[in-house]
Amino acid sequence: LRYAPIPDDTILQQGLESLPSVIVSLNSSRVSPVYTAAKELQAGILGVVGENLNVSYETTASEQSSSLIVGTAAAFNDNYGTQVDVSKFAPDGFLLRVKKGSVTIVGQNERGALYGAFEYLSRIARGDFAEVELLSNPDAPIRWVNHWDNLDGSIERGYAGLSIFFGNGLVLPDLTRVAQYARLLASIKINAIVPNNVNANANTLNATNIEGLGRIADVLRPWGIQLGLSLNFASPQLLGGLNTFDPLEPAVISWWSEKTAELYKRVPDLAGFLVKANSEGQPGPLTYNRTLADGANLFAKAVQPYGGIVLFRAFVYNHHADWNVWTNDRANAAVEFFNHLDGKFLDNVVVQIKYGAIDFQVREPANPLFANIPETSKAIELQITQEYLGQQSHFVYIPPLWKEILDFDFRDESKTSLVRDIVAGRRYNNSLGGYAGVVNVGTNTSWLGHHLAMSNLYAYGLLAWDPTLSAEDILDDWTRLTFGFDPDVLKTVSDISLATWPAYEDYSGNLGIQTLTDILYTHFGPNPASQDNNGWGQWTRATQTHIGMDRTVRNGTGNAGQYPHEVAAAFENIETTPDNLILWFHHVPYTHRLKSGKTVIQHFYDAHYDGAQTAQTFPVRWEALRNKIDVQRFEEVLFRLTYQAGHAIVWRDSINNFYHNLSRIDDEHGRVGNH
Ligand code: GCU
Repeated sequence: LRYAPIPDDTILQQGLESLPSVIVSLNSSRVSPVYTAAKELQAGILGVVGENLNVSYETTASEQSSSLIVGTAAAFNDNYGTQVDVSKFAPDGFLLRVKKGSVTIVGQNERGALYGAFEYLSRIARGDFAEVELLSNPDAPIRWVNHWDNLDGSIERGYAGLSIFFGNGLVLPDLTRVAQYARLLASIKINAIVPNNVNANANTLNATNIEGLGRIADVLRPWGIQLGLSLNFASPQLLGGLNTFDPLEPAVISWWSEKTAELYKRVPDLAGFLVKANSEGQPGPLTYNRTLADGANLFAKAVQPYGGIVLFRAFVYNHHADWNVWTNDRANAAVEFFNHLDGKFLDNVVVQIKYGAIDFQVREPANPLFANIPETSKAIELQITQEYLGQQSHFVYIPPLWKEILDFDFRDESKTSLVRDIVAGRRYNNSLGGYAGVVNVGTNTSWLGHHLAMSNLYAYGLLAWDPTLSAEDILDDWTRLTFGFDPDVLKTVSDISLATWPAYEDYSGNLGIQTLTDILYTHFGPNPASQDNNGWGQWTRATQTHIGMDRTVRNGTGNAGQYPHEVAAAFENIETTPDNLILWFHHVPYTHRLKSGKTVIQHFYDAHYDGAQTAQTFPVRWEALRNKIDVQRFEEVLFRLTYQAGHAIVWRDSINNFYHNLSRIDDEHGRVGNH
């Protein structure tokens, strides 16, 4: 989006030779994403190759040879002799055809045309002017971002300043940053934003805020992005003054349908609703002995006449669980709450499932719910905001983690059952499905607080479009677009980024024990003692001799049995459970020998030293890029990587000392305990 000039004269010359002479926009309405696309192409070409092309709205066929044409397939076919085969397009898809001196960008819809424009701009900004004929369709229709912004302007689990959407109980008067953010999201093919927290405030729906939300939607619309909203289930009572929010009560049903009509009057293209119900103290249908499906369907019926959808979160569990009961397990909750509801949700309901069964931990197995509700449309919830991953004070490049989950094979009915095929709707033939990413950008000019963290948001959008892309290739493209073509910069950013997740796992929580952070308040910094002996259920069951959750069917919580039988059998058996999930599924002595040959406790000691050691290399490697990156970004990244290196040592020593104190087993290499 910087549209920085091509730094290489030879490439620039090639670029200039391949350029068309005019941009033809097949739509002249200022609110159309096609219009936006044409303006963006003009700005991008000017920035990257220094040519200022005119935008024309005249569609004469003779211009085609030296034109860059952008529009919908329907408009293109109406105006030009050559026909584009629309049957090959999925909604939001596009065709990009680059031939010497002519470029055709045709979208299935207006948004698709904008995506095609950004695809072209991304290519030329990376110095790629090659001829191409690319038909690109999204893997899944839902490619949303969620924000946990509160009306007072604070952001739950946000690490980059205040909200760009809200303040003082209202939508902000100045939405300039929202427009910039919409541009950013459109460039990575995101099609809807939910700006308000899942822990939703009923006042979001008062008349003043509906007008404000309308202004947000107006700002998003030229970028092809729809607005979605988080709802507070008790709104009919909290805001409407009813004495109930029972989803089957006629007064409640009509309250919601009137409120929905009011919303659609101001925002006719509202994407739909996001609902967190009966979770962590939030109100929901269970209060009235109604099912979660009754709750979801209430909203599904309300938005159905307008073509809206409901993302209903599966993150429902008891946060006052009794730690003393060996068989209690928060990881079982989603399947227990949802599997008997399969088939009971209306067609426009999508169950939104966090990637793992606990909560965005540094390593979790894929959430078993994905393979338990075949009749129900499903979306995967990922977190771009690094709640448990160092809160942007540490940098963790997360796509390798996401890819492991998306590529996980449940082997349901002994057939290939990849998470990415399930959420695309392919595996179980669901009509909807896709991706929800919790982003939590703020007013910080870097958006996420750490310049390198933007690679996570970039990758999220690209993977939601095509989950088969490689985490490495995405990163290389991002780096080239963000920091230029210098090979040292590319290599350093790549090496650091790809080392971050393994290092963070090593120093914060390995072998599937979860991120050993402070569970009770901050979710930041080491605090292994906080995991156990409370109702939150992020338990490790560490004793003086043993550690790990026994999730076997045989002797534990039965969680392994929630997976389809082949996978269940693998996790049930300690021999066939991978080392990196051993403590997720099994309660073992510290002296248990891993497949690597090390004992669990020695692995802890070694991994914490290795991870902290790797983190020491980050600021050193970055330092070598001085003068190759602008001073501001260089210094700001260096500051955070230096902090991360120091804090990794704090993590290392806290965790190692904690388990040494518990187990009294010395480190074989003499670093922990016996000195
Ligand atoms: C986590 C997070 C909360 C959030 C919740 C959710 O528990 O710490 O801040 O509200 O997830 O996803 O609903």
